Amino acid sequence: MPFKALWITETAEGKFERKIVERSIDDLPAGEVVIKVLYSALNYKDALSATGNKGITRNYPHTPGIDAAGVVEISRSELFTVGQEVIITGFDLGMNTCGGFGEYIRVPAAWVVRKPEGYTLRECMILGTAGFTAASALFKMELMGQNPQQGPIVVTGSTGGVGSMAVAILNKAGYEVIAITGKANAAEYLTHLGANSIESREWVYDTTGKALLRPKWAGAIDTVGGNTLSTILKGCQLEGNVVSTGLVGSSQLATTVYPFILNGVSLLGVGSAETPMARRMAIWDKLSTAWNIKDKLQAVVKEVSLEELNATYIDAILEGKVMGRIVVKLAEK
Ligand SMILES: NC(=O)c1ccc[n+]([C@@H]2O[C@H](COP(=O)([O-])OP(=O)(O)OC[C@H]3O[C@@H](n4cnc5c(N)ncnc54)[C@H](OP(=O)(O)O)[C@@H]3O)[C@@H](O)[C@H]2O)c1
Repeated sequence: MPFKALWITETAEGKFERKIVERSIDDLPAGEVVIKVLYSALNYKDALSATGNKGITRNYPHTPGIDAAGVVEISRSELFTVGQEVIITGFDLGMNTCGGFGEYIRVPAAWVVRKPEGYTLRECMILGTAGFTAASALFKMELMGQNPQQGPIVVTGSTGGVGSMAVAILNKAGYEVIAITGKANAAEYLTHLGANSIESREWVYDTTGKALLRPKWAGAIDTVGGNTLSTILKGCQLEGNVVSTGLVGSSQLATTVYPFILNGVSLLGVGSAETPMARRMAIWDKLSTAWNIKDKLQAVVKEVSLEELNATYIDAILEGKVMGRIVVKLAEK
C-alpha cells in the first residue's frame, strides 16, 4: 500500500534535500505494530534530523518525526488490537527509525502507549514530546521534594514547545511561574498559559562572573543550556531543583560547585526519549489527571499539512521563530 512521507536524502556532495515521496509499508523497518499516523508534531530535534544532523540521524535517506498518534492497522503483539488509538513519543522513532512525518510507521510494541485518558489523539500530539518532557521535568523535581510553597520556578525558552508546556503544567500544579522569553510580543500568550511574570533572556544571563547570585527562584526547567543554565544554578534558592532539558543556546555548561555545596541546589536531567515504560505511564497519567492542561492546548497549536511543514516550519523552528506547537495532520481516521 503506497503512502506519503517526508523523505530526506543526502547527495554525493554531503548536502541534504527533502521532499514528499510515496513509500510502501514493505519499505518500513521490522516491528510488531503498524500504525496509521493521523497526527504528528514538530520538535526541535525533528528539524535537526530533517537538515542532516548526524548526531540525531546516522543514516539517510530517512523520514523524521519523533512523535506519532494514530490507529493500529496491523498488530503482531498481544498488547495492541487493530483499530486501537495509540501514541508514540521518543524511543528511536524519527531518529534512525522512519518516523511520524509519514502516513504509516512500523515499530516495536515496546514503544507504543495506549492513548492517554482525557485527550484526543490530536491533543496528545499538541503535548507530544514537548509536553511529555516538561511533565517529566516536574515529575523529577517533585521526586526531589520540590513544592509550590518553596517559591517561583523559572522556565526558559518559554514560548517554545517544551517551554510553553512547562509554563502550563507548572501553573496547573500550583507553582508560580517566571517565564523567560526573547520574544517581545509574547506577554498575552504566556499569561494565558499561566505565567505570573515574564522576563527577558538577559535576566538569566549573568555576566558578573560571580559564583553565586541573590536567589530569585526556587527551581527551573531550562531548555537553553550554556550561560543561561549556569546563571540559573547561581541564582537558585536553597534546596532548589534545576532541570536541564535542552541546548538551544549552547550544549556547554561552565559552573562552579558553589550552588551545589553551599546552597544544596540539585541539577537534574531529563532524556525523555528513553523513559522506561512504567515511569512513562505514570507521567502520562499525571498529564491526564492532576496536570491536565487540555483547556490550554488550543492556544498553543498551529495545525499544518506535511507540505506546509516541509516548506516553512522545519526552517522556522531552527531559527527560533516558532511559538507553541506545530501539529502535522497526516490523515483522517
Ligand atoms: N531532554 C529531552 O528529552 C528533550 C525533549 C524535547 C526537547 N528537548 C530539547 O529542548 C530544547 C527545546 O526544544 P523545543 O522543541 O521546545 O524547541 P523550540 O520549540 O524551538 O523552543 C525553543 C525556544 O527557546 C528559545 N530560544 C531559541 N534560541 C535561543 C537562544 N539562542 N537563546 C535563548 N533562548 C533561545 C525560544 O523561545 P523564546 O523566544 O521564548 O525565548 C524558542 O522558541 C531543544 O534543545 C531540544 O533538543 C529535549
